Formats: sequence, C-alpha cells, structure tokens
Amino acid sequence: MKKLIIAGNWKMNTNAKDTINLINGIKEQINKITLNKNIEIIVCPPFINIEAASNAIENSIIKLGAQNCHYESKGAYTGEISTPMLKYFNCEYCIVGHSERRQYFNEANQFINLKIKALLNDNLKPILCIGETLQERQNKFTFEILKNQLDESLAELKDEQMSNIIIAYEPIWAIGTGVTANAEQIYETHNYLRNYLVQQYPINGKNIIIQYGGSVNEKNAKEIFGIENVNGALVGGASLKVEQFISIINSGNEL
Ligand code: 13P
Repeated sequence: MKKLIIAGNWKMNTNAKDTINLINGIKEQINKITLNKNIEIIVCPPFINIEAASNAIENSIIKLGAQNCHYESKGAYTGEISTPMLKYFNCEYCIVGHSERRQYFNEANQFINLKIKALLNDNLKPILCIGETLQERQNKFTFEILKNQLDESLAELKDEQMSNIIIAYEPIWAIGTGVTANAEQIYETHNYLRNYLVQQYPINGKNIIIQYGGSVNEKNAKEIFGIENVNGALVGGASLKVEQFISIINSGNEL
C-alpha cells in the first residue's frame, strides 16, 4: 500500500473559531473510520490561526502545517513569520513556493530555496509547490518549467535531506478552476518528476512524496490517488468543508 499524504491548504480562509470548528469536525469524522497507517493528514491554516489549530489537533492524528515562512529566524522583517515561531506551536510542515505567492508576491525560486533551507535546518518539512501555466503547457514547456523550478528551489540540497521534502505538483491552470489535470496528464507529469528526482537523488529520490494539487475533490480523488507516483494531494477549496475533506481522505483509505 503506497503512502499518501493529504494536506489541506486553507489559504486566506477561516478565523480562529472556524479553525477550531473545522478541525473538530474532521477529528469527529476521522474517529469513525479506521484510517490506514499509510495515510497522513495535514491542515495548513492561516498563520493567525496556527495556535488555535495547534490546540485543536491535540490527541489526534492530524498534523499541522503553515502556508509560508521567512528564511531568517528573527529580525527586522515586518509582517513576516519565522520557522522557530512555527515550531513553537508544533508545526511540522510548511508550504513554500505556492503559485499564488509566486504570482502575487513575486516569489522566485532562489528565495524559495532559502526558505527550504531554513525549514530543514529547523527540522520542519517543506511542501514545495511547482507547476506550469496553461500557456506553458500548451507550448509544451511543462517539463522544462518543472525541472527549472526543482533545480533552483532545491539548489545545494543533499540527497539525505530529500527524505524530509514533499513536492506538490500543482498545474496553475487547475487551481481553483474546477478543471483537474486528466489522469494521463497527471501520470505523465508525475512520472517525469519521479524519474528526474531519482536521477538527481539516487538514494531518496524514489521515496519522495509527490502530491497532486488543483481542483482535487471528493469525486476525482480516488482516480487521482490511484495514479502511479501520486503520493497524496494538496487540497484547497475542498479542504474547507469537513464532508468533502473526509470524503477525499476516505478515497485514499479505500485504495
Ligand atoms: P484548489 O483545490 O482550490 O484548486 O486549490 C489547490 C491549491 O492551490 C492547493 O494548494
């Protein structure tokens, strides 16, 4: 049975109260199912709800992730959050390089690389998002774009560090659009990523978790999880509804 890591990226949604309600709802439903040991569940609420989430997930199998971080541990960086601050609330994961941060906040691969190094130094696990635009896919640049994002974002990292990194393949055109990449596109792209990772990191490359993200929902999750080299999902909109998120988890559980 392959390992599946299913993470909810809540983006800029929920306040502290919603956070507690959502986590309690997920906990309640999870308790009703026998979850396979190969399934891991992460929630990534907005920074301001990290403390509420940290308390709410106590005594459950749900793990905590953040949506971003800074690469310095402290200092004059107004508005930023550092990895020690996340660790204080038992955060284990952190999304980096989400396409929304690349697009709206001009985050470049080199900057993302610094964040990944900071996270690993502090024993947090980065979830590195990569993905192509629709135009790049139509012009057949997908693999080139993904290779460049991996090369630059993971620059100078050693093979032994790769067991602590998750890659999330999120085609930008599939995010929040309701249009999922089809099974063939997902298979082909994840297969490319796996081969490239194995080539770059001969020891850990074969075991790196590669999540798919982009309009994952309760209807398509089962098919997506069944695709070779898909090791989980990074779920946006559908992670904000208890029933939908649980249904996605169930799809993985039934594989
Ligand atoms: P949606 O699932 O809402 O398409 O968002 C995907 C995503 O960006 C997760 O990081």
